[in-house]
Amino acid sequence: MPQVQDPKLLVSGSTMDDAGVYQINEEQALVQTVDFLTPMVDDPYVFGQVAAANALSDVYAMGGKPLTALNISAFDLDMDTVILQKILAGGAATLQEAGCLLVGGHTIQDKEPKYGLAVTGIVHPKEIITNAGAAPNAALLLTKPLGSGILSTALKGDLLQENALEELTQVMTTLNHQASEVMQRIGVLAATDVTGFGLLGHAWEICASSDVGMELYFNKIPLMSGVVDFANMGVIPGGAYTNRRYLEDKVIFNGISEAGQIIMTDPQTSGGLLIVVEEKKLNSLVNELRLKGVEGAVIGKTTDKPGVINVIS
Ligand code: CO
Ligand code: CO
Ligand code: CO
Repeated sequence: MPQVQDPKLLVSGSTMDDAGVYQINEEQALVQTVDFLTPMVDDPYVFGQVAAANALSDVYAMGGKPLTALNISAFDLDMDTVILQKILAGGAATLQEAGCLLVGGHTIQDKEPKYGLAVTGIVHPKEIITNAGAAPNAALLLTKPLGSGILSTALKGDLLQENALEELTQVMTTLNHQASEVMQRIGVLAATDVTGFGLLGHAWEICASSDVGMELYFNKIPLMSGVVDFANMGVIPGGAYTNRRYLEDKVIFNGISEAGQIIMTDPQTSGGLLIVVEEKKLNSLVNELRLKGVEGAVIGKTTDKPGVINVIS
């Protein structure tokens, strides 16, 4: 993508962030992002909820507050249009939960349904949280368990039990709203949401943009139930292998099983926030998150060895 430069463009693709930030005045900047997906669950309403939570997440990851959103959808007119109604209703419900106004949208005809949103949010220009602010010896906190790519693949293969589907749905429809507000209040160094590039891919974006390395503790990473079993069975989305190939020369796995490695590159949908926070603020961040119902797991730390992510058990 051609790189655009402008004094008012505070964040663009150059820091590998998923939202652009444009300054309006001394106190306000716009956060803009777009995301759309193909269905990962059978229930169209839930698909709408997940797609909206996923699109809003890129505003939350930057410490912003979403204001307005536009639907983007593709639908096959040979299918029952009630399905599209349910997708849009699910998306609208999640936007309402977020306090974000749905102001319009656009639909095209396509054989494979797709849905997502373009979201506009607001942030104070001095309070933008990006991939680029991390420093060595800070703690890494993850706010949702991993495994949505693997479990969605299991669901497609009719291998997922009802209770596992409930957990998956619960995780993917949860907004990163509370986590974002808490990290903004406490003040953190950097953050990203964990989505298509998997935990390691998004961790790498922080490393590259902030010129730090990382040490991750595999056994501390929260996982949804059944993820390890499915990974061992080879129920793995293709994207996990693509991610791992990309990260081959950037990550050192120390005694991590094949399944463990692939779980760490599993592409996530509507994943949690990966937050880099100074050690001295770690306890208050974890406690404040817990008060808001968010379980933040400390999964590692940043190091002063740029270019390397070390994974230990
Ligand atoms: Co995105
Ligand atoms: Co993102
Ligand atoms: Co139009």
